[in-house]
Amino acid sequence: GIGFFSRFSNAPSAYDDEQIGLGRQTVIKFSYVVAENTPKGLAAQEFARLVEEKTNDGVKVELFPNASLYNETNEVEALQRGRVQMIAPSFSNISEVVPEWMVMDLPFAFQNEEAVLESFQSNIGDILLRKLEPEGMIGLGFWGNGFQQMTSNRGLLVHPEDFRDLRFRILPSKVKQAQFNQLQAATISIPFNQVYRSMETGKVDSGENTISNLYSKKLYQVQKYLTLSNHAYLGYGVLMNKSFWEKLPQSQRKAIAEAMQGTTAWANRNAVATNRKQWDELKKKGQMDIHALSLEERSEWQQALEPVYQEVESYIGKELMEAVYELRS
Ligand code: LMR
Repeated sequence: GIGFFSRFSNAPSAYDDEQIGLGRQTVIKFSYVVAENTPKGLAAQEFARLVEEKTNDGVKVELFPNASLYNETNEVEALQRGRVQMIAPSFSNISEVVPEWMVMDLPFAFQNEEAVLESFQSNIGDILLRKLEPEGMIGLGFWGNGFQQMTSNRGLLVHPEDFRDLRFRILPSKVKQAQFNQLQAATISIPFNQVYRSMETGKVDSGENTISNLYSKKLYQVQKYLTLSNHAYLGYGVLMNKSFWEKLPQSQRKAIAEAMQGTTAWANRNAVATNRKQWDELKKKGQMDIHALSLEERSEWQQALEPVYQEVESYIGKELMEAVYELRS
């Protein structure tokens, strides 16, 4: 992740400060699908603050939370076309355009938060960010949310056989599809801003998400059962439109890169704290039946899901697969 600025800072700028007109404000429209009081929402606010501070208000970051402009089905295209300048989609969403990003969705790839942060800073992170460029996007870095948990309306999910014939809301991702197919469950991909309703109306029985997303979108009102499974990690690539970036004056690119670095370190600590705080709140609500997977149950799930790795390795490629096996061991 850190190598990002050195890769781009020396690229020739299409304009210098004079040509772009000092005093004219550059606006970055930043669209995302979650609420403001979430790891991503809070990171976006911190980023906006730092960019404005470091550029003396020369660059303004306008935030559009709650999918008010675009949702997962169209935000990547909106970025590529320059309708917005920044988005921070989940790994799953990015994997639709750059399949290698599937590596981050593999079940039980990360033992803990440290392993996730390590992957962002390792060659895994580097490879993934570079793969965005041919698609017209610059990867500024990675923001985490947290580990995903399983929810349902049809009883507690404790053993692999409990998933059979349930219908799960998923993000559009081949890994997620493969994961639930291994458990003989059906899947349907639904954008985040329609998840509450799809659970309320029974269009889906079940889902997977972080505590923060369950809490901030009140999904605990429409899902009765929660299994603390930590089976996969939900995180985001922070992306900018490539030609927009290349036209920015050097001084603004530098300021944005610094703001991003400052935000990311803070954001990834804050994500853990936000999930922890909202976990306490969620328990206080007392609306869900909660089960924490035992180590034995966890290894049952892990065994049942191991074939997913083979199923998607051709999309991910050898180098990344080896890196993730190494991280797991
Ligand atoms: C989801 O759709 O469940 C997540 O991707 C939402 C998000 O961006 O955290």
